Amino acid sequence: MKRLRIEPHHPLQGRLQPPGDKSISHRALLLAAIADGDSVITNFLPSRDCLATLACVRDLGVHITVHDHATLTVHGRGLHGLRSSTGPLDCVRSGTTMRLLAGLLSGQAFSTILTGEEQLLRRPMERVAGPLRRLGAKIETSDGHAPLSIHAGELQGGNLPLSVPSAQVKSALLLAGLYASSPVSVHQSAPTRDHTERMLAWMGADITIDVDRATVNPTNCLSPLSIGIPGDISAAAFPIVGAAIVPGSEVILTGVGINATRTGIVDVLQEMGAQIDISHEHMEGNEPVGQIRVSASALRGVRIGGETVVRMIDELPLLAVAATQAEGRTEVCDAAELRVKETDRIATVVAELRKLGARIEEKPDGLVVEGPTALTGGTVDSHGDHRLAMALAIAGLVAEKEVVVHNISCIGDSFPDFISQMKSIGASYD
Ligand code: S3P
Repeated sequence: MKRLRIEPHHPLQGRLQPPGDKSISHRALLLAAIADGDSVITNFLPSRDCLATLACVRDLGVHITVHDHATLTVHGRGLHGLRSSTGPLDCVRSGTTMRLLAGLLSGQAFSTILTGEEQLLRRPMERVAGPLRRLGAKIETSDGHAPLSIHAGELQGGNLPLSVPSAQVKSALLLAGLYASSPVSVHQSAPTRDHTERMLAWMGADITIDVDRATVNPTNCLSPLSIGIPGDISAAAFPIVGAAIVPGSEVILTGVGINATRTGIVDVLQEMGAQIDISHEHMEGNEPVGQIRVSASALRGVRIGGETVVRMIDELPLLAVAATQAEGRTEVCDAAELRVKETDRIATVVAELRKLGARIEEKPDGLVVEGPTALTGGTVDSHGDHRLAMALAIAGLVAEKEVVVHNISCIGDSFPDFISQMKSIGASYD
């Protein structure tokens, strides 16, 4: 579908099970590929980004049996069992695929080229290539971007600070560390998502994890996984914000990953006055999971920056939508990383929400929203960015008239069932 038409003012009500977490799905595939034996992955996210990782892993000689779209068996080949692909690996539009593979493939006995679609070729890759070189990787970028050429090589250990708060870069270094001759220690000054560390520990890798540092020691073997992927809080965030802002709404989301490195959106919405509670907390695959209940209430503006921004980096376009409905000023700073996502998300979210009458202003490292605003109807565009497409689809729920979002096929990059799930709780999407 090329465009989505949204009829406003329908309260959201009911229960949802959000799809499997995108970040954890990528990691489960990559780590299962190098485990000693067969891993079973359930609730895998069959989105375009994760399917790009799946295809790359197959190209590296790993056999994967797909039982249904969300259940897979990955026949792991052990740490040294990957094979050279016949051609360049296509990461499509997935930054996580490319950056994590860059780390995993830096210590192999064969060379690889990583490439992808134009949107991905625009994104910065020196942030991962530079630190990998410090471990001895022979990796070339094309003027700081993909395609990446990774040559066969041997890696040594090292102590590396993260120069940008990126879990993708951290994970690349930890994956490379599995192949290094001595420990690789990554120091971070902000709490980026820690799914790689948790999964490595669960598979028996020799890894130590502190708040600001993870150290992986050379490893001989990883145990296979048997993992149910927790629901993706970044996907759940869309119905959560929808239910928080559409009067009369009440939604329950089950089986949602509530890892503290990802729950910034819940904390900030609560600070804004949203009625959200978390229950049924338990662990699944070394990740905390729970049920989230949210109902509509009056919101007030909030000021966020620092660690909170890192813990909700993918939810900031959506927060801007919530802020248009909140009383007073919302200010986001320390979020310059948004400029190097699938689009420059500061520029695109500001441009598109303004078309709906939002009072929103761009800052070099964030944005400012004045609310509340009765959004007008109108036509907006996703710029090919899945998170912007869905954030605009949520904005349409509270507009005065119909909103049409163009260019929505990108939603499949992370949440293929977004439209049907939203319709199942009452959204009028067509
Ligand atoms: C991700 C990390 C984040 C996030 C992306 C997924 C991951 O990117 O924006 O959607 O799975 O590690 P950065 O590491 O570049 O911040």
